Amino acid sequence: MGGEINIVGHLHNDNVSVVFATLNEVLFIAHLGRPLGDADLDPTLFSRGVVGGGLDNQVVAGLLPLPSQGWMGLPGLEVSRWGERLQLNLQFVSVEDLGNSMTFVLYDYRQAVSVSITARLHFSGVLVFSTRVSNEDSEAISIQSVHTCLPIGGYADEILTLGGRHAMEAVQQRTPWGRTKQLLENRSGRTSHEQLGVVFAGSPGFTEQTGDVWGVHLAWSGNFRIMCDGISETLKTIHVGELLHPDELILDGQESYKAPEVVVAFSSQGLSKASQQFHKYMRSFRTSSPKPVVLNTWEAVYFNHDLETLKKLATVAARVGIERFVLDDGWFHARRNDTAGLGDWWVDETVWPQGLEPLISHVTSLGMDFGLWFEPEMVNPNSNLFRDNPEWALDGVFDDAVLGRHQLVLDMSLEEVQDYLFSKISSLLRTYDIAYVKWDHNRPLVAGATHHQTRGFYELLASLKAAHPKVQFESCASGGGRIDMGVAQLAERFWASDSIDALDRLEIQKGLTTFIAPDMLGSHIGSPTCHTTGRKHALSFRAATAMFGWLGVEWNLLTLTERDEEQLTNAIDFYKQHRSLIHRGDFVRVDHPDDTIDIRGVLSADGEEGLFSVSRLRSGPSNHSAPLRLPVDVNTEYTVSLVHLGSTRWALHRELPHWVNQKEFTVSGAVLADVGLPMPALLPESSFILELGPVISE
Ligand code: GLA
Repeated sequence: MGGEINIVGHLHNDNVSVVFATLNEVLFIAHLGRPLGDADLDPTLFSRGVVGGGLDNQVVAGLLPLPSQGWMGLPGLEVSRWGERLQLNLQFVSVEDLGNSMTFVLYDYRQAVSVSITARLHFSGVLVFSTRVSNEDSEAISIQSVHTCLPIGGYADEILTLGGRHAMEAVQQRTPWGRTKQLLENRSGRTSHEQLGVVFAGSPGFTEQTGDVWGVHLAWSGNFRIMCDGISETLKTIHVGELLHPDELILDGQESYKAPEVVVAFSSQGLSKASQQFHKYMRSFRTSSPKPVVLNTWEAVYFNHDLETLKKLATVAARVGIERFVLDDGWFHARRNDTAGLGDWWVDETVWPQGLEPLISHVTSLGMDFGLWFEPEMVNPNSNLFRDNPEWALDGVFDDAVLGRHQLVLDMSLEEVQDYLFSKISSLLRTYDIAYVKWDHNRPLVAGATHHQTRGFYELLASLKAAHPKVQFESCASGGGRIDMGVAQLAERFWASDSIDALDRLEIQKGLTTFIAPDMLGSHIGSPTCHTTGRKHALSFRAATAMFGWLGVEWNLLTLTERDEEQLTNAIDFYKQHRSLIHRGDFVRVDHPDDTIDIRGVLSADGEEGLFSVSRLRSGPSNHSAPLRLPVDVNTEYTVSLVHLGSTRWALHRELPHWVNQKEFTVSGAVLADVGLPMPALLPESSFILELGPVISE
């Protein structure tokens, strides 16, 4: 009936345990959550028994659960051969324990399909699952789906997801998770604006600082499926994998499929701690590289490229402290607007008769480096590339092909497409002194199958990186349409959103930082009136919002008043002084009972230094809000100073809290964390910054 449970592996640290077990040769996770320490675990405690009204054997949620083993939820592996679905029954074969990682081998002897699953406990705290499915037969098979199944605490009853739209990405949505199944699916061919590939589940009412939280992410820039199942076997399971279309993934004999990695973070102290593990994991992808302050020309000039104007822009840019000048869309052949040119990756001879050299040498002579915009995977039907090679575009040979922003998508699985793009981009990177590429992807795919497309994109980017190791890349897709840990292994920066409205950016960046390291998020100080929302914001608010990311400016600097220039220069200077703290410190979003108040910031690893922004989003019911409690080290003494990036906009008051008028004061971490500073009355859509440093004894 029941069978015997054997524990076959236990990965753990001070923060998390994951216990692997088998029952009747089915490999499953018996526990994923709070740490259980070194002691031997009694396997019988994981037996759930057999209940009436169901099957005669105990059913577990296998790591790749299968119907043949009694699992009635989403199958972990679906395979067909010659159009016929295979009845799979994967049996546990072996485990190899390498300390911080374990590799499990499963085998279906009848169908000659093997699976290896490696679970790695990374020093950042995250667990990474890598699964490979191999066809051990000589006949081809078609892989329909591979979904890793993660059973999480039965007491998790709330789900947090991220999604939205172009120019309003990563909005948080919370839903109760009871006896329900919730499906997150992306079929847009890129990570998408609508639905990011991450889900957080947590204990009742989990907050930034409290509760048990599990974060699950698929490191993949194509289609995906995440299913939160609260029904099957009355367990709470999260199933995650690439979304494959019928027969898009055929494995010939002896071939294998490596599924995208599944990255899991667990925290027993709220969401921010789970986010910090994700951040640390991403920061481990590369040795920390310089992150120069960017000026992007898009909202300054759009397609109106003119050498003299751009040179003047560069001159002001250098004066305010910009370190990298990025020439956006509009520089290549026949690209006078967004209806033509994509695919013809050479410098437009009419707009740039002497090439880009005069601009680049001006930029570099001012001490800045230079970046250039590309959209490699796309082609306009109105381009030489398309006229010569219509068959290179997905759907390009059909008259009724669906266009997006007047463009089609090149078939990235074709070697000739890869070779063409590599040679064009590489030749520009060789010809000019280019330090940075902004890599855009401005339309969704409707062709369905996107596995080979996504792999093709990764391959091209990887080969360009190998050929030009010093060039940094930014991943952009109409703003934040391609943000995930798959592309993060290849790109240093994300363009978070086409909206640089500071108020919306607070929300967008709040969502994105739940799983993306803030130092990878391009965040720009925009114009006083935002181009995408028409809203006006003071520089102090725009700068405080952009500060907690990879700073840039996207504003026509030729329109600056003297006061603007002074304030912008100061803000950039302040950022540079705190850049290493912002980029390496532990980022935290801070709980506050008033949801019109937003607090976020960073604390250094030793807990001695911190930088926090406090913003009022909209008018609240009272100007006496609850105190600002900051999650700092309770055993440290801090000097605190209030920083004004421009003029802070206080709401109507007769007297501000006394600490606000002190230039600098000393306070214990315990008071800051447990009592908090009285919150001054701020006007809506305004912020101030708090700087925390160690107390230097005389
Ligand atoms: C996309 C990007 C913008 C800009 C334009 C250029 O929308 O998100 O930042 O580069 O393309 O066409």
